[in-house]
Amino acid sequence: MKKGIFISLEGIEGTGKSTQSRLLSEALTAAGYEALLTFEPGGTRIGQSIREILLKPDHKEMSFVAELLLYNAARSQHLHEVILPALERGAVVITDRYTDSTVAYQGYGRGIDIELLKSIDRISTKGFMPHLTILFDLDVQVGLERNRGVNKVDRFELEEVAFHEKVRSGYLEIARLEPQRIKIVDASKEPQDIHKQVKDIVMERLCR
Ligand code: TYD
Repeated sequence: MKKGIFISLEGIEGTGKSTQSRLLSEALTAAGYEALLTFEPGGTRIGQSIREILLKPDHKEMSFVAELLLYNAARSQHLHEVILPALERGAVVITDRYTDSTVAYQGYGRGIDIELLKSIDRISTKGFMPHLTILFDLDVQVGLERNRGVNKVDRFELEEVAFHEKVRSGYLEIARLEPQRIKIVDASKEPQDIHKQVKDIVMERLCR
């Protein structure tokens, strides 16, 4: 049994996840917890190299299966090199994206069979799931507009709106199936209001 608490933050593009993960990590540190903030794809040296392959806008020829396996490869490295050791120390680990991203993007978005995808997850993570997941839900157009504002372009931002709609509804379906683990937060609110809600959810989980 791992000692720490494992929290993942999920959502489509432009929901403000990165800002919220930073605010949460700062709040936990201020409250005296060891908080470790990390992200996928990336979070390790090898993961960072895989991230570059995955997100390069020029890699238009990448097959959906190659994409799926690369996300899983990055995740396995991340889990064993960063997440599990931190949990063993008793840290609160906050990751910006984890397995639900693969189910939402490669499963619901790309159309890869979810059961097949979960069998690969059993290889890469042995089914190790977060104790708590916060899903930032937002209108697709609003999210894409926000990202355009920061001039961020990767292979996924080049996808059409219909793809992102499938990802968003996929996330909502995942959350519907696992209400105990996944809490939905309305990401259209002001950043400070969202932060307060996130902090309340996390503190409630930590005090259990
Ligand atoms: P990133 O720049 O981290 O995006 P964001 O700021 O939106 O989190 O890029 C990660 C991209 O990779 C994002 O578009 C979602 C996608 N992704 C998957 O398709 N599958 C996955 O398993 C993960 C972790 C991410």
